[in-house]
Amino acid sequence: MPDPQPLGGEAVTRRFQRILEARGLDHVEPGPIDDEPEPAEPGHPEYHRKRRADWALKRWATATPYRYQTATATHPDVIAWADRAATTPKAAGFLLLTGPFGTGKTHEAYGALRRIADAGPERYEVIALTAPDMYALLRPKGSDNGPEFEVKRLMRAPLLLIDDLGTEKISEFTEEATYRLLNARYNECRPLIITSNLPTQCTDGPDLIDKLGERITSRLSQMTTVVEINGRDRRRESA
Ligand SMILES: Nc1ncnc2c1ncn2[C@@H]1O[C@H](COP(=O)(O)OP(=O)(O)O)[C@@H](O)[C@H]1O
Ligand SMILES: [Mg+2]
Repeated sequence: MPDPQPLGGEAVTRRFQRILEARGLDHVEPGPIDDEPEPAEPGHPEYHRKRRADWALKRWATATPYRYQTATATHPDVIAWADRAATTPKAAGFLLLTGPFGTGKTHEAYGALRRIADAGPERYEVIALTAPDMYALLRPKGSDNGPEFEVKRLMRAPLLLIDDLGTEKISEFTEEATYRLLNARYNECRPLIITSNLPTQCTDGPDLIDKLGERITSRLSQMTTVVEINGRDRRRESA
């Protein structure tokens, strides 16, 4: 019996060469190694943005009432504000959506929050509630955690939506709570979306200044994108 060929070394290289020649692959030059990740692969910024967006959209869906689960922002000014809030939240300011009942203010507001989530921001945390629910929460016995804990949570939330501000009765309590909250968010430049049936200013009827008081509306006027959502009452149409 012939001695077994030693493994490795020249013998293996020669054998390998013969196999390659037999397949016409003997002159394959090694090309440049393309180790840049594709957009669908980990390491590519688009892959990581998409993962952040998937996660943020889950949070958005949890914070969004059933009726607005399909909401998308359609107004160009709302879209522009949402894009600023996604990329440079400190520069976005507040967004105030005003207009008559049923015109789609709440729809646009949740649509804006969805658009921010869809951009895959570094951080996405949102609290959305109506003004009456907010005041109920902030009352002395409104929550297990106590009003101070709750007001801090609303002050610090990276994104906050207060829906239907101005519908509740004004009192020293509501004015103080609104002022503290808006002022804290104003000072820290945290984005806030407000919807309201009341016009910002109106000479022949109640307006936001009457309802919220001058010190709150003066804060609002400095850093707020006001968008009027006018048009038909969509609720009547679908009824
Ligand atoms: N752009 C839109 N596309 C489809 N449905 C909409 C749109 N805007 C509003 N709606 C629907 O119309 C109704 C009224 O809208 P909503 O946002 O609740 O009004 P508002 O907050 O101004 O009172 C809701 O049922 C909402 O889902
Ligand atoms: Mg509404």
